[in-house]
Amino acid sequence: MDHFQYRDNRLYAEDVPVEKIAAEVGTPVYIYSHATLMRHFLTFDRAFNQVDHLTCFSVKSNSNLALLSLFSTLGGGMDIVSGGELYRALKSGVPPRRIVYSGVGKTVAEIDLALKTGILMFNIESPQELEMLSQRAQALDVVAPIALRVNPDVDPKTHPYISTGLKMNKFGINIEKSRQEYIRAAKMPGIKVIGVDFHIGSQLTSLEPFMEALVRIRYLISVLRAEGLSIQYLDIGGGLGITYNLEEPPHPDDYAQAIIVGTEDLGVTLIMEPGRVIVGNAGILVTRVLYIKRGEAKNFIIVDAGMNDLIRPSIYNSFHTIRAVDQPESGTMIADVVGPICESGDFFAKDREVPVVSPGQLLSIMSAGAYGFSMSSNYNSRPRAAEVMTHGAEYRVIRERESYDDLTRLETVPNWVE
Ligand code: LLP
Repeated sequence: MDHFQYRDNRLYAEDVPVEKIAAEVGTPVYIYSHATLMRHFLTFDRAFNQVDHLTCFSVKSNSNLALLSLFSTLGGGMDIVSGGELYRALKSGVPPRRIVYSGVGKTVAEIDLALKTGILMFNIESPQELEMLSQRAQALDVVAPIALRVNPDVDPKTHPYISTGLKMNKFGINIEKSRQEYIRAAKMPGIKVIGVDFHIGSQLTSLEPFMEALVRIRYLISVLRAEGLSIQYLDIGGGLGITYNLEEPPHPDDYAQAIIVGTEDLGVTLIMEPGRVIVGNAGILVTRVLYIKRGEAKNFIIVDAGMNDLIRPSIYNSFHTIRAVDQPESGTMIADVVGPICESGDFFAKDREVPVVSPGQLLSIMSAGAYGFSMSSNYNSRPRAAEVMTHGAEYRVIRERESYDDLTRLETVPNWVE
């Protein structure tokens, strides 16, 4: 459930009319609901209450400091994949001991930063990375707590671009090879093996792939323990899907129960890395209609948001519901909803039945809270959109709209080109 609802045919974000925010802050604008964010985080986290656990919000899905601070205050940790995300996580006030660090390409500088910070766990994705971490830990005279990110070779049955747990994917260490790698890790100076990690993909809409992975991981843990390794943490990654259109993903309670039943005899602390399920339906992207182009072959609704603001439809052909902020009574039409960018891939919907709208009216692109702003860019020299958080009847801008100055702020023209 979210807090974007109609009252008298006008869309509200909590108790604030969306139209009011658009008028005062401009468009395009991302709007997140504090109440929805809280509700989603707590529903997820509390579903695991009966076992030792840590919910590490996946920073990549939405990296705004206001959201990170909220999850940190609610007792959450952070799942990070870069030095920049570590910087954000710390800035949001999350204790270092609640941070886990994944990613196939951690640089020396990033490793050093994380070692000095004293994070909970490095999720190691290759033998080479393990060696590098061992070297850096020795150089800094610290011990690096690690899990290997094991690739369980399970098909998550999601979009190929966001499936990560198959042998053919670049992520993690093959489960068959991981035993040897664990034994090697346990003997390495500067390394302390504390856990096992996997993440098989994103937007999963059934429990089976998680369960299939768990069976394999349980076996691995028993083998590792027989080798004398101490496995205290099991990081099961993120990936629980949400409803964009007609999907019926498991409720977090059912997901948690299945995971708990499958792990409770292991005596581990569970770590989860949810992103989308927490923030996806807690955010919308509001855009204004610029022009309506009625073509022979197609109708186009041209709006002021573009693929630089929300790239998911362009690269995954993903579905986002589009609603009129003021529900008109003039029926529907079939149209493509497109942005102003010079690419045919710049669309939010194709051949979609949408309300008949006119220039100046507002549309809300739903389910845009995850991988929306965080994947946005300045393509076509478009300043990034503003971000707003609502709280009851009030709202606050949590990231200002970028200015034209911001676009060129870091650029220099060498004197030899002038
Ligand atoms: N943990 C790891 C190691 C991950 O790689 C990811 C997401 C997550 C956790 C969080 O997954 P979630 O709970 O959000 O499914 N840009 C794509 C999604 C890419 C996901 C990348 N990894 C999209 O817009 O659908």
